Amino acid sequence: MTAAARMSEPMPRGGEAVLTVKNLESYYGPIMAIRGVSLEVRQGQIVTVLGANGAGKTTLLKTISGVMNPQKGQILYAGGDIAGWEPDRVVRAGIVHVPEGREVFPLLTVEENLRMGAFVRSDREGVRRDEEMVYSYFPILAERRRQAAGTMSGGQQQMLAIGRGLMAKPKLMLLDEPSLGLSPLLVKEIFAIIRRLNREQGVTMMLVEQNARVALEVADYGYVMELGRIVMDDTAPRLLMSKDVQEFYLGVQEQTQRGQKRWKQKKTWR
Ligand SMILES: Nc1ncnc2c1ncn2[C@@H]1O[C@H](COP(=O)(O)OP(=O)(O)O)[C@@H](O)[C@H]1O
Ligand SMILES: [Mg+2]
Repeated sequence: MTAAARMSEPMPRGGEAVLTVKNLESYYGPIMAIRGVSLEVRQGQIVTVLGANGAGKTTLLKTISGVMNPQKGQILYAGGDIAGWEPDRVVRAGIVHVPEGREVFPLLTVEENLRMGAFVRSDREGVRRDEEMVYSYFPILAERRRQAAGTMSGGQQQMLAIGRGLMAKPKLMLLDEPSLGLSPLLVKEIFAIIRRLNREQGVTMMLVEQNARVALEVADYGYVMELGRIVMDDTAPRLLMSKDVQEFYLGVQEQTQRGQKRWKQKKTWR
C-alpha cells in the first residue's frame, strides 16, 4: 500500500488523538519548508518523525509550539486549533518544546534552569515535587544542582533540557533530536529515560530524529519526512522492518548488497 493510501485510512492505534496536524504549510520568506504535513499523535504514545538533515523536522516542531506561524493548515489540540498561538500560550495549554541543541541557560544553575521551566505554574508544592521527580530520573542533575548549566557536558545539558521541559508539567512533549552530538552509550541511556517518562509519567511524546534506529526502538508509531512532506508512516516495528527505511535511514543497504553478492557467488560455486 502506498503511504498516501495508508494515510487516508485511519489505522487502529490505541488511544485518542492528542494532536492532529492537517495540511500544514510553513515558510521562511518565500521558501516553503513544510509542504502540507498531516499527522496524528495519540494519547500515551511516543510518535517519531524521522528524516534527513533539512527535511523540515525542526520547522514542524517550531510551528506546533508557536515559534513559527503556519501559512496554512490546522493544529488541532485539546478541542481547538492552536495554529498561530503565541509560544507561552501553547506551553500553558500543555505542549512543551525541547529544542534542537538543548538551549539551556548557560549562566544559570541546573536548579535555576529547572525552575525557569515551571514559569507557567503557580502551584509551588507541585513544582517542588516535580523538581524531585526530575532529579529521580536524572540523578546527575541532583548532584550538579548548583553548577552553571553551561559548564556541563552535552549529555548532561540534554538531560537538563528534558528536565526543564518536564517542569512545565506537559501533556505533550516535543523533543527535537535529543541524540544529536552524543555518544551511542549516552543516547541509549537518555532514550531509555524518555521511554520511562512516557510510560511512568504518562507524557505523550513527539520525537524528531535523524537517528532512525534509536528513535524507532522507543517509538510506537513513526512518520518519515522528506523535503517538507510526509512520505511514509507506520507502526515503529513495521518501519524498522521496512526495506525503504532500512536502506535510506538505517544504513543497512551496503550490508544487504554485500549479502546478495555473497549469495550469488555461493550459487555459482554450486
Ligand atoms: N531560518 C531559516 N531561514 C531559511 N530557511 C531555513 C531556516 N531554517 C531552516 N530553513 C530551511 O528549511 C528547510 C527545513 O529545515 P529544518 O526544519 O531545520 O530541517 P530539519 O530539522 O529536518 O533538519 C531546510 O531546507 C532549511 O534549509
Ligand atoms: Mg532540525
